[in-house]
Amino acid sequence: MLRQEENELLTRVGPGTPMGELIRRYWVPALLSEEIGEPDSAPVRVKILGERLVAFRDTEGRVGLLDEFCPHRRTSLVYGRNEESGLRCIYHGWKFDVDGNIVETPCEPPESTFRYRLSIRAYPIREMGGVIWSYLGPPEKMPPFRVFEWMTLPDNNCHAVKIWEEANYLQALEGGVDSSHLSWLHRIFKGAGEMSLSAFDGAPRLEIEETPYGYRYAAIRKTANPAERFVRITPFILPFHTIVPFAKDQPRNFHAWVPIDDENVWVYFMHYGRNHEIDPVAHKEPYELDAEYRRRRTLRNQHLQDREMMRTTNFSGIPHIPTQDHAVQEAMGPIVDRSLEHLGSSDTSVIHLRQLLLRVVGDLMEGKDPPGLNEPIPWELIDSESIVVPADMPWQQLGALPQNATVAG
Ligand code: FES
Ligand SMILES: [Fe+2]
Repeated sequence: MLRQEENELLTRVGPGTPMGELIRRYWVPALLSEEIGEPDSAPVRVKILGERLVAFRDTEGRVGLLDEFCPHRRTSLVYGRNEESGLRCIYHGWKFDVDGNIVETPCEPPESTFRYRLSIRAYPIREMGGVIWSYLGPPEKMPPFRVFEWMTLPDNNCHAVKIWEEANYLQALEGGVDSSHLSWLHRIFKGAGEMSLSAFDGAPRLEIEETPYGYRYAAIRKTANPAERFVRITPFILPFHTIVPFAKDQPRNFHAWVPIDDENVWVYFMHYGRNHEIDPVAHKEPYELDAEYRRRRTLRNQHLQDREMMRTTNFSGIPHIPTQDHAVQEAMGPIVDRSLEHLGSSDTSVIHLRQLLLRVVGDLMEGKDPPGLNEPIPWELIDSESIVVPADMPWQQLGALPQNATVAG
């Protein structure tokens, strides 16, 4: 459990809040490349960290991420004309480039100096792996961009989706560092492979290792063979990333939980395989998303939970693993009251996540820079692992980048 003040501290992310300032020190996903696929296509509304922004791709293909509201009389630039290398407000025609410069104020006399004196807020962006990232923090603190493995793969080996989840980012993220629920929420009755291994031992032992980028943890399960253990290792990368464990040769998911505001989150799944092409249609289809990336199954229809399915097929009565996650997280209410919880040993990693975030945000409030920004970490080597190993083998030797591998890559 957390005290109320701690819960407030970790869940509020708007401008000026401590947690909001912490997340703003990292590059974060702002939107998918496909949302503004073509030069001069329609601009789109972007809301992250409680800020209302507009994104557009100009005539040259450059991406702008600007304040949504025109500095003249504050109408929305989502309605704007995207033409001739800039976004033009439809109210009085002021025009902005991707860097936030005002390039025209056609309703003013030619001698007007507005365009030299004013600008519109514009955030830096990087586009990689089908995702447009942005940095919303203080310009003088902007860190190098981190290149993870999935960004280095051919286009066909990676596909990104995002899903609007109606819950605070932290309770969604906590589901991503909670391997023990795999044996329950995600149980299927005739599961094979990893699903049957996870079902065999529903009370895994969880062990933590601190790393320069956050931490990683192992969920260690007994198997039918007393001489072997089933080990799943998940890295947590500040401020809100995990890599879901899959066997070495299998495609995996890189995750991001980007707060929309205090009560909603964009859940990003970057599905990638070193030796696998990813079919974008097959990847996206099970999420059942509408044009705004919202699921068909919501809290209002109880995620279309099926009691017959629950009796015959799986534990939850809901198909599709991410939808099962979203159902239990949305069912907590927008911001869960962590002062009412009763945490056990299955929550070891969730507890560690909270302690880490409280420590890092506390340090930031005292002026200390957060970890995982400027260290020479070989980001593309960080990986998860899901494997059966001899019972006496230390898991720390496996998979994801170990703590001491901080040498420049
Ligand atoms: S409100 Fe945008 S130009 Fe006037
Ligand atoms: Fe899950």
